[in-house]
Amino acid sequence: MDNGFYDQAVCACPAHRYYYDAGEVVGLVKVKMWNSTINKKASRAPSAPGNGRVRPAPDGNGARPDGSIEKIGEIRQELESLVGLSSVKKHINEIYAFMEIQKRRQKEKLHSEAQALHMVFKGNPGTGKTSVARILGRLFREAGILPKGHLQEVERADLVGEYIGHTAQKTREQIKKSLGGILFIDEAYSLARGGEKDFGKEAIDTIVKGMEDSKNNLVIILAGYKEEMDRFMETNPGLRSRFPIHINFPDYSTRELLCIADMMLDQREYRLTNGAREELRLIIESLCRLHQHNGNARLVRNLVERAMRVQAVRLVALPATGRDDLVLITREDMVVARDTVYN
Ligand SMILES: Nc1ncnc2c1ncn2[C@@H]1O[C@H](COP(=O)(O)OP(=O)(O)OP(=O)(O)O)[C@@H](O)[C@H]1O
Ligand SMILES: [Mg+2]
Repeated sequence: MDNGFYDQAVCACPAHRYYYDAGEVVGLVKVKMWNSTINKKASRAPSAPGNGRVRPAPDGNGARPDGSIEKIGEIRQELESLVGLSSVKKHINEIYAFMEIQKRRQKEKLHSEAQALHMVFKGNPGTGKTSVARILGRLFREAGILPKGHLQEVERADLVGEYIGHTAQKTREQIKKSLGGILFIDEAYSLARGGEKDFGKEAIDTIVKGMEDSKNNLVIILAGYKEEMDRFMETNPGLRSRFPIHINFPDYSTRELLCIADMMLDQREYRLTNGAREELRLIIESLCRLHQHNGNARLVRNLVERAMRVQAVRLVALPATGRDDLVLITREDMVVARDTVYN
């Protein structure tokens, strides 16, 4: 593809560049495999025992294994390679820098601040909250803040029981599973549903108790729509001070969603023809207009996966297929995917 050229106007994410030849997409170059580490099996934590606060456990002479520093670099790179999310990245880099500096201050026997790391992630579905939380868990593990750094993802039904005492038991079980890592409570505001008599309140009380009991070994992230989460925090003043870090996940622009689609396809070794890409742009624009909470990156993933299946049905009918046939998704594939993705 020596005669190709970069067109950053099409895909402005740092991880990808399109090669164009006479207006036709002929190749997609990965500047960096954004997801290269996501699917690798998590390696065992080399870190010192965890600490749910910024003040980390002293680790001997303060030295970290080289491997850990490399991994931290890789994880931060992975965060950077997510499309958009500039304010989220900035926030997380701040948290990381603060933790790191407290560590260095500790080494120099300077006063170091302990700061709670419990957070609230506010945003619509498909805005990257779970993906970022996973990256955070791994970052905290490598930085010696949490010993395991795994993500225990739960929602109301995993915490709230059906009879008195059942909720506390269910919630305690989930806290136990998340020890050493992150307890990620999706749509956390729904715990306040139903008011005082609802068992959701018991779940909240049990979570607060769990936070106190395991403050050196657990980070909790509450996630949900911005307005609902703001209301939830207002009605639970005790929670506000316990969850000092609030991060907003804005909806993606059409351009960002297209770039996310490119990344998803690239990871799967598929490519859109120019026509398919134009069709995808129109679909994203019209769906965003129709649906208030348009599903964001999740919608794009559904569309991409659907288009792959549509392509397969088209190809399986052919007596023979070449490499290009297997890779390319056409406008017609995308049109069929559009018509069926919500069915
Ligand atoms: N900025 C991004 N760059 C690349 N891919 C992304 C980005 N944000 C989200 N994705 C992809 O979109 C999909 C949905 O993202 P994710 O599950 O993190 O969103 P979410 O906010 O947790 O959604 P929900 O509230 O519905 O659980 C995943 O496949 C994820 O890999
Ligand atoms: Mg999620």
